[in-house]
Amino acid sequence: MKASHLSFEAKTNLGGFYTPKRISDKLYETLEKFAQPSAIDTLLEPNCGYGALLENDYIKGVKKVVGADIDEAALAVAGDRFDRVSFNRINALKNGSRSAYGIDDNDRLLIVANPPYNDLTSQAKNGVKKIVCEIDGDIQTRDLGLSSLLAFGKLRPDFLALLHPLSYLIKKANFNALKPFMKNYKLKAAIVFSSQAFCGVSKLSGFPALIAIYERSESGTSYEDIYAWRFETIEGESFSLDRFNYIGEYIDKYPSARAKTDQDGYLFYTMRDINALKRSRTFIKERIANAVFVSQDKLDYYCYVDIFKDYANRLPYYMGNLDIPIDRDRFENTRESFRALSVAKHNDIFAGKISGAIDLQTARANIALYFDELFGKERV
Ligand SMILES: C[S@@+](CC[C@H](N)C(=O)[O-])C[C@H]1O[C@@H](n2cnc3c(N)ncnc32)[C@H](O)[C@@H]1O
Repeated sequence: MKASHLSFEAKTNLGGFYTPKRISDKLYETLEKFAQPSAIDTLLEPNCGYGALLENDYIKGVKKVVGADIDEAALAVAGDRFDRVSFNRINALKNGSRSAYGIDDNDRLLIVANPPYNDLTSQAKNGVKKIVCEIDGDIQTRDLGLSSLLAFGKLRPDFLALLHPLSYLIKKANFNALKPFMKNYKLKAAIVFSSQAFCGVSKLSGFPALIAIYERSESGTSYEDIYAWRFETIEGESFSLDRFNYIGEYIDKYPSARAKTDQDGYLFYTMRDINALKRSRTFIKERIANAVFVSQDKLDYYCYVDIFKDYANRLPYYMGNLDIPIDRDRFENTRESFRALSVAKHNDIFAGKISGAIDLQTARANIALYFDELFGKERV
């Protein structure tokens, strides 16, 4: 069901993109492998919307079910749909405590949620006025979803079954922001699906999302666990971060103060991840704030990224938030081909200063072979 009571602006601010049944069913199917309903006293859905995540037989087996949301109108719809759920209007990010939800300190608690993901620093939604709800100081981050996870952790649930962006785990800055949560919770299952599954999401702005099951545990989850984790996708594929080396090991991806003294080099647009690269430019002429200075000895790596961009659309959605993979050994044998093709592509920038040492047809063939071998028959 779409959040039909919300304007585009309100939907963006509240993260009012509701969950379809097939994702909710998959979440409970996955959860049941780790926590039977009989082992739970209270199920809390703190961002319930119309209650998409409360429509499952699982909840019949749980003693007590509590739903909450900050959006009064959504709660009214949910209230009409469910008999044995008690609903409360609560800001999950302010003064969060079990007692605020009427949950006993000793209850075995399960939190099921699809929190709002709303990057407060994102420029993509420029023009949409941010109505930022009050957030406790100790859980403030740059994204409402990251703050939500920190707020959930403070309720000390035994289990969590969540939908959240894959980037919360795989991007180091996000993972670090989640450390207070991750040190107490062990990731038990992680199934990747495309965010385009959510109701009302633009077909253009997909990112990999996760069904993630966490269990309270003193050993927690480390970034090394994530790096080696074999992520399954809802389509039955799998991948892990440690399968590749990444361009960030070899070159600057972001502008660095150190490089700003380099006056003569070429300029390259910041490269956040594969999805961002698909949308952004590569070599640029303007000294904008997002410009990375290309050091001469690393030029071929930037040419590599430039050519990689042309291949990026062939990659599956679930790789969208990965850094740009590179096979260093194969790259060494192919670097002239990357340079030749990139130089030919950006005549205006290289303007006869560099010429390719290899003919373009051969370069194209070499590069096609390189990518076949990198992503290969098994793909990732
Ligand atoms: C992604 S939707 C999920 C709704 C529902 N759980 C589902 O899966 O369909 C996020 C929900 O979080 C609610 N929300 C946003 N900020 C909130 C806050 N600070 N406290 C509680 N709920 C909030 C929104 O109103 C919205 O209903």
